[in-house]
Amino acid sequence: MTYRNTLHLGADPSSLATAGRILAEGGLVSFPTETVYGLGADATNGRAVAGIYEAKGRPRFNPLIAHVASFELARGQGVFSPAAERLARAFWPGPLTLVVPKAPTCTVSEIATAGLDSVALRVPDHPVAHAVLEAVGRPVAAPSANRSGHVSATTAAHVAADLDGRIDAIVDGGGTKVGVESTILSCLGDRVAMLRPGGLSRDVIEDVLGFALAEGPEGAGDEPVAPGMLASHYAPRAHVRLDAENAEPDEAWLGFGPGGGEQARVSANLSPSGDLTEAAANLFGMLRLLDRADIHAIAIAPIPGDGLGEAIRDRLARAAAER
Ligand code: TXA
Ligand code: MG
Repeated sequence: MTYRNTLHLGADPSSLATAGRILAEGGLVSFPTETVYGLGADATNGRAVAGIYEAKGRPRFNPLIAHVASFELARGQGVFSPAAERLARAFWPGPLTLVVPKAPTCTVSEIATAGLDSVALRVPDHPVAHAVLEAVGRPVAAPSANRSGHVSATTAAHVAADLDGRIDAIVDGGGTKVGVESTILSCLGDRVAMLRPGGLSRDVIEDVLGFALAEGPEGAGDEPVAPGMLASHYAPRAHVRLDAENAEPDEAWLGFGPGGGEQARVSANLSPSGDLTEAAANLFGMLRLLDRADIHAIAIAPIPGDGLGEAIRDRLARAAAER
């Protein structure tokens, strides 16, 4: 974990411009939304997003919410069914996150969606969040701004207590109004399902929809679930062989550090120099690349378990178990 000198910013225009610039350059900035403080990174920059997991000390990769400044921008990232559009028009900006199929023009990185074909989108209702998003001009991935296992932060002081020295800046916009995370609905196909209860209540959602919400897949919220149970996780079709020394001719090779995979049918390298942040940023995209019909298994070089290696190994162990 590299030390980062954390700037403490106010919410004046020049501070907000600074926050936007730091994000655009790949840095990590915490900012308030109406629900809780988010820990933001440029969602289109895989390395920046990998830094979120490092700063939070989160030992596994969950898909993250991509925050955008308007519904129009959200439409460039996701495909909205008529029901999803109705919800967006009724409740955005606001404490509602919609999980929708990725649009062909989606720029959110694979690590931010954890390799899924869907993307979680939200337009937050907070002037500071809005100004930061406008300044970046790109979707911003932001989980709650707390260390893994701690409660979500609702003031800049809470954020500082957890993340000082681990992120680049904290924008102080006062206490958050709602205090709990956004409600998450999945709008894939005709179904609208509740994945996580939150700041927007079921009854007002059902009033707008005109029908009852389905229950979401297990494990879609923050609840821990058994490996292989998580419906909201990407799993490769090919088998996954961990801690491999080398690949067989009918296998793909996913390297880490120099060498290996000379016999493989196809190969990729998470990080030739052995950098775990780079490896995390490449993980889901490379798994997809190697997950071809003519591949029996993906053989994966040993990956150290320190820092982001823990989350990478966790994800690969699930991929190996999910059958
Ligand atoms: O209020 C909030 O939602 C706050 C503020 C900062 O916006 N953010 C937040 O993010 O709570 P986070 O990362 O703690 O929670 C995001 C949740 C995770 O439980 C994740 O599993 C789910 O959203 N999620 C994200 N993308 C998904 C997807 N494509 N399919 C299913 N679930 C998804
Ligand atoms: Mg959280």
